[in-house]
Amino acid sequence: MKLPGHPFVAYRGEQLCIDDCTATELAARFGTPLYVYSRASMLAALAPYQRALTGREHLLCYAMKANSSLAVLQTFARAGCGFDIVSGGELERVLAAGGDPARVVFSGLGKTRAEMRRALEAGVHCFNVESESELGVLSEVAAAAGRRAPVSLRVNPDVDAGTHPYISTGLKANKFGIAHDRALAAYRHAARLPGLEVIGIDCHIGSQITETSPYIDALDRLLDLVEAIEAEASLRIRHLDLGGGLGIQYTDEAPPPADVLIGELLARIDARGHGHRALVFEPGRSLVGNAGVLVSEVLYLKPGEEKNFCVVDAAMNDLMRPAMYQATMAIVPCTLRDGAPVVYDVVGPVCESGDWLGRDRGLVVQAGDHVAVLSAGAYGMSMASNYNTRPRAAEVMVDGAHATLIREREVPAALFAGESLLPDD
Ligand code: LLP
Repeated sequence: MKLPGHPFVAYRGEQLCIDDCTATELAARFGTPLYVYSRASMLAALAPYQRALTGREHLLCYAMKANSSLAVLQTFARAGCGFDIVSGGELERVLAAGGDPARVVFSGLGKTRAEMRRALEAGVHCFNVESESELGVLSEVAAAAGRRAPVSLRVNPDVDAGTHPYISTGLKANKFGIAHDRALAAYRHAARLPGLEVIGIDCHIGSQITETSPYIDALDRLLDLVEAIEAEASLRIRHLDLGGGLGIQYTDEAPPPADVLIGELLARIDARGHGHRALVFEPGRSLVGNAGVLVSEVLYLKPGEEKNFCVVDAAMNDLMRPAMYQATMAIVPCTLRDGAPVVYDVVGPVCESGDWLGRDRGLVVQAGDHVAVLSAGAYGMSMASNYNTRPRAAEVMVDGAHATLIREREVPAALFAGESLLPDD
């Protein structure tokens, strides 16, 4: 039995399998909470992007904030991807995973001088710059190093991506990007700065977007600007970076497939006479989200007058999305049992009422069973914390019947290894 949106996660008999590995066996071997990813699923999610862009000059930059574990980065690097990074730390991960810095775009609105220096030294493809003050600082840093920094300006197109307010980024009220009506002036300013070389334009309007129309609106706004910039400034916009943001199916969402979205964007780009420009995309969630599950053990069943609770050993520190965005993520048993489902709130051990993974879920489970949160490959481990001094989960990458531990479970002593006690009085 296949699970919707999860081509590589399915029940075989009573057992939940990821590729050809059984979730309960992985739990017994590696412990819980455990993130399990399917490599084949990641590559299958990448394929429609690559297919749709064949024959075009392009760069697919995996937005690694979605899941920055080294083996995940290595998987995408080997498949030819570049990376969208937002910090110096992410750059170090790309280098450690064998990624090519020349295929990296550096996004983010608060880059430090040290991060800029390091990225210049590594030779990133482009800095996505988000303010006029950042332009000035980057020019200074580059000039001091005897270089010119390749830049693209992130324009805030003021379109509504129709997604959760915390992950909507392309509205005027958001902190991101340079306002559309200031962008031309910002490009003129960039053209005058000695340490910069303008090469592109970019936008990113939000995340978990399930329609194509906000992308087309943003693209139109961007192309209007490109035409205005090239008409008057002595600049050439070599690439269009349309960001990331394509949604996935968590429960009943129906986002367009990546090749459909890209097909529509390319048709619009060509129709407006911009087909000669290179293209950059920064997908995150849509490449890894449905490739991962979080396996957790049921510790206790706690019936109550108003609510029944299913207490599991994964918590908000392992998977922040439900607590932070009220995200609904499917939770399924790793072993199917006969019986009438009982409605539970699935909660973790953290001392906060906000620590829940799912609400009002009908499940047939007993203490000692395992459950899996589906679609947990994106913004799961990468947002995990050590709140309540909880060691972060282990991670496993499966490939057919083969499972590789790609991150050890943390141990408590490592969590305070860098701390010191005060000297004696
Ligand atoms: N490019 C930029 C500049 C971004 O800010 C983001 C995501 C992406 C690309 C990738 O977007 P994606 O394809 O993954 O939607 N933690 C939230 C999502 C935050 C997204 C932030 N920016 C969540 O769990 O839903």
